[in-house]
Amino acid sequence: MESRGGFTSRLGFIAAAAGSAVGLGNIWRFPYEAGENGGAAFLFVYLVCMVLIGWPVMVGEIAIGRRANANPYGAYTSLGNRNWGLVGIWGILCGIMFLSAYNVVAGWAFGYFLGISFGDILSTENHGAFFGGYTADITDNFFYSLAFMTITGIIVLGGIQKGIEKAAKILMPILFVLLIGLIIYSLTLNNAMEGVKYYLIPDFSLITLETAYSALGQAFFSLSLGMGCLITYGSYIKKSENIIKAAGLVTITDTLVAFLAGLLIFPLVFSQGQSPTAGPGLVFVALPGIFADMGPVAGRIVGGSFFLLLCFAALTSTISLLEIPTTFLIEQKKWARKKVVALFAVLIFLISIPSMLSHGAVDFFSNFLYYEGRNKTFFDMVFDIFSDVGLPLGGFLMMVFILTRWKMYNLHEELAIGNETYPGSFMQKFMGILLTYICPILLLIMFIVTLKVKFF
Ligand code: TRP
Repeated sequence: MESRGGFTSRLGFIAAAAGSAVGLGNIWRFPYEAGENGGAAFLFVYLVCMVLIGWPVMVGEIAIGRRANANPYGAYTSLGNRNWGLVGIWGILCGIMFLSAYNVVAGWAFGYFLGISFGDILSTENHGAFFGGYTADITDNFFYSLAFMTITGIIVLGGIQKGIEKAAKILMPILFVLLIGLIIYSLTLNNAMEGVKYYLIPDFSLITLETAYSALGQAFFSLSLGMGCLITYGSYIKKSENIIKAAGLVTITDTLVAFLAGLLIFPLVFSQGQSPTAGPGLVFVALPGIFADMGPVAGRIVGGSFFLLLCFAALTSTISLLEIPTTFLIEQKKWARKKVVALFAVLIFLISIPSMLSHGAVDFFSNFLYYEGRNKTFFDMVFDIFSDVGLPLGGFLMMVFILTRWKMYNLHEELAIGNETYPGSFMQKFMGILLTYICPILLLIMFIVTLKVKFF
């Protein structure tokens, strides 16, 4: 077997884990979730969820990974038993399926980047109709998703240090620069302040159960929790690292990027008098219209930079998703990394084809499920099962695992490694309360409510 290797430094781990966290979830999904769920009110609930649930669950995942020094299946098996191993398998399966759908959206982002920078997307009349046609047209989709998966595979092929850590250290700083540059520009637009107000001044009467539940789902999606991604990354960090601090920094970075993405997008949307409640099309429909209005040169530069930002964010996430099954198979079967990466890249790309065909290309996948007057595409179904329902389930089972099988004292013991002042500290009590009571209860509720909302 190849030597396991690992991240070289704290910064390397944080860049990679933050790269995993920062993705389409922050720039594509967060703004439309916030836009649909009350703007600042959503942001407020989201911040609470990040601290009370996101951060401690991340701490738990990293600790399990580092203690077991293994992939999710290996970790649950060695710290628990073969039955607990099934929780790891569920996570790995979620990772595979999630990536198959995520890569389709990444492919759109890539196509939009090229089409806006060098093609003529901005000169189309109706951006809604264009996006509809674009996603229905399988040739473009096929090609760009394949390109995205290939780039992801090449980076993962390089392994933890030379592939993942290196890519994250290059891509993350560029992402920040692009983001800040775009925000400065968007704040100078007419009416930008209306957007800022909608986004930052909360109207607490808008907080409903729906807001809370969307915010928690968004927090899990955005922090890459619930499928063993951070068990995998955690298995590659040094014993000298302070896990609580590292998880805290990743949570802060991820929250900051989502916050900044909102600060970029709401002023843009309000400057054109558009509605922030456009849903998943917000980034692909509302924004291109706004870029087009900036004129041909500025539109290409600003719009192109925006979609490049989206691609970079997506890439560090697809890398982390592909690494989950990769580490698993390398360890369990002792195969070479090359062989495993090739296998999964091809397999996941094939699984993504029905998701690609879900947007009008093939009727069977576009109208996959009909019930109670609702229509679900195959693509929606993958995200519903393996993300919205699957992640809280994975998170909840992990809590049960920590509490009943691995035991809290083992978790505390692992957290004390690399953090001498931890035993007996306030932080230990705080983490204890969050992980013993708050997280399991809320995750169980979240799982049941989501299952009901999505399928019954
Ligand atoms: N967090 C990423 C985003 O915000 C998506 C992601 C990457 C993910 N790896 C994951 C989500 C693992 C859940 C589990 O876009």
